[in-house]
Amino acid sequence: MTKANFYRTLQAEIDRIDNAKTAKRHERIIEGFRKEEGRAPKGIVQGKSYMIFNSNDYLGLRHHPKVKAGEQEASEKYGAGPGAVRFISGTLKVHVDLEKEIARFHDAEAAMVFSSSFAANMAVIHCFIKGQSRDSVVENNTLVVSDALNHRSIIDGIRVAGLPKENKAIFKHLDYDDLKRVLEEHKGKFKRVLVITDGVFSMLGEYADLAEMKKVCDSYDDAYEEGVITIVDDAHGIAAMGDRGRGCQDVTGVLPDLLVATMGKGIGSDGGYVTGRQVMIDYLRESAATYIYSNSIAPGTAGAALVSFRMLQEEEGKALLAKLKDNITYFRKKAKDAGFRFAVDSIHGIQPVLIGDPVKTNELTRALFDDGIIATQISYPVVPKGKDEIRIQISAAHTQKDLDECVEKMTAAGKKVGLLS
Ligand SMILES: Cc1ncc(COP(=O)(O)O)c(C=O)c1O
Repeated sequence: MTKANFYRTLQAEIDRIDNAKTAKRHERIIEGFRKEEGRAPKGIVQGKSYMIFNSNDYLGLRHHPKVKAGEQEASEKYGAGPGAVRFISGTLKVHVDLEKEIARFHDAEAAMVFSSSFAANMAVIHCFIKGQSRDSVVENNTLVVSDALNHRSIIDGIRVAGLPKENKAIFKHLDYDDLKRVLEEHKGKFKRVLVITDGVFSMLGEYADLAEMKKVCDSYDDAYEEGVITIVDDAHGIAAMGDRGRGCQDVTGVLPDLLVATMGKGIGSDGGYVTGRQVMIDYLRESAATYIYSNSIAPGTAGAALVSFRMLQEEEGKALLAKLKDNITYFRKKAKDAGFRFAVDSIHGIQPVLIGDPVKTNELTRALFDDGIIATQISYPVVPKGKDEIRIQISAAHTQKDLDECVEKMTAAGKKVGLLS
């Protein structure tokens, strides 16, 4: 009977979530994709086609024939799954080729693939906070400094590492003067500092100025015995921003000490990775639990990602990046001409259309859905009150026709809910 009490406790929590209307489990099911000439693939939901404006597939690579062929080829050669974790017998040549290609793409010494970038963040933070030995846990010599709006995988990475309160600090979002304050305040108290930030922040499409951040971190490097190590999670920046598709690295000219990213967004495949100095990657391979005790990505997934990274370094990839840039400019102008405003001026495919009121934002998102467009409502507490937005995500796969239709439908919906006159 005690289990009945347990189930009741779970049900009460689910009821609380449902009553607060914050449930996430009623997911929209995409049954397939419809491909029409001159249009981005449309998602089919309950038999009806929808234009997708909330995907992270910024270059349209997940539907690219060459990427899909890369997936097929690798799974034909190596099988559908990895068969074991990496250090047993799960290291296939396609994993090694992919890691070499990622390192080359970023001009980094080495790279390492994880099952996801969530798993990569958990590993990186845990390993470089605690080290391998029990003694280093006791020493508590690491200070972790995090941007106030970092992604949940970073927050959880820090939480799970279980550091005492004194070893954790937050700097104001994108405020590197505040980061300086934190580094100054803790001088002499710690041996090592990890400064962690998202690259592109996914709610508004803003990005971290890594050059500014580096300047501050470098100026405090001598103040700590093992220096100030920068870690950047640019999940949304890779294959989405910059002339070479390297996200914040291209836009700011800085490759952090450790770069974490996903292959499940712009790269059009799945899995996560880390780049850094060989010694850091070697250390991670010896100590990262989510790498040692968990399977790597499937061979097909690695084969698809390998094609994407190669393509980004060729003309075809560069053309897709240029198309994405053009699409963003075109959409922003059209939306502005139609009377919409943006919460911030983003150069990224994430375009936050400012609505400013949660009820109107909800009505507008629903009206768009009824009219065949899937976009995301973002409201408080994810963004500050009054900054409610419809997050439109632009892809290189969208055509001018798609973008025209999106703004036309946004305008009709805006009038319907009384946002536009
Ligand atoms: C900044 C950031 N890090 C990590 C992730 C997780 O990526 P993955 O799906 O590879 O775990 C996301 C995706 O939401 C993200 O936006």
